Amino acid sequence: MSDETRPSRTAAVIPAAGRGVRLGPGAPKALRALNGTPMLIHAVRAMAASRSVSLVVVVAPPDEASAAEVKTLLADHALPGGTPSGSWGRTDFVVVPGGETRQESVKLGLDALPPGIDVVLVHDAARPLVPVDTVDGVIEAVREGAPAVVPALLLADTVKQVEARTDGGPELVVATPERARLRAVQTPQGFDRATLVRAHETVTDNVTDDASMVEQLGEPVVVVPGHEEAFKVTRPLDLVLAEAVLARRRANDGF
Ligand code: CTP
Ligand code: MG
Repeated sequence: MSDETRPSRTAAVIPAAGRGVRLGPGAPKALRALNGTPMLIHAVRAMAASRSVSLVVVVAPPDEASAAEVKTLLADHALPGGTPSGSWGRTDFVVVPGGETRQESVKLGLDALPPGIDVVLVHDAARPLVPVDTVDGVIEAVREGAPAVVPALLLADTVKQVEARTDGGPELVVATPERARLRAVQTPQGFDRATLVRAHETVTDNVTDDASMVEQLGEPVVVVPGHEEAFKVTRPLDLVLAEAVLARRRANDGF
């Protein structure tokens, strides 16, 4: 097939190996329930909701018990129509153990991608409620030629740059970046596979998202609209908000 006619195949890597320290003591964050269903399952469903996503790679907490629990959960929540342990409807999934940092976990997920995938989404398990339109918007922008795409929102708060201190003393404000030029960046972030793999092989600095590694390669990163419901469950209050969003969806579905 020529390049023009070859359909692009999309996979989603879901880093879910974090402990969730800021959420407080308990199970690994991705395995905590929202309205009775583990956050990770919500996140996998959010990716599988896109017709373009043919494979989901879940990067599980590295201990054997958690990895086994993730595999069981995925099988238990599999949609009718798929094989019991390997797919949800038209979306296949695989589980791999994660690493010490988010960056390592994503790399381990990328290593598990089969040939034939050319668009990769990286999506935090901690963003379980991202709407499918946001996912599709990211994929579309990559298919239209952007090597890296991030969904983002305008900020509500003014942001100050400070001289950071860890001793509890007052921090000195250094600068106030113009709010209109700042964006709060979410996931899924979308990439041309080869570009993301090269970024992970080249950039060794500690980063907090994947797109910043592509920026360091000097490749363009573009922004598409994010969504309020794609917020990251980080602190205890975020669990309250997530359950409220699910309750609102359920109420709206009923009418
Ligand atoms: N993550 C991962 N591997 C790690 C650390 C984080 O796969 N070693 C994943 C988390 O599971 C999460 C995403 O990266 O889905 C975003 O990270 P964050 O929200 O910071 O989650 P945690 O690291 O689990 O939370 P905390 O920083 O509060 O411990
Ligand atoms: Mg973290």
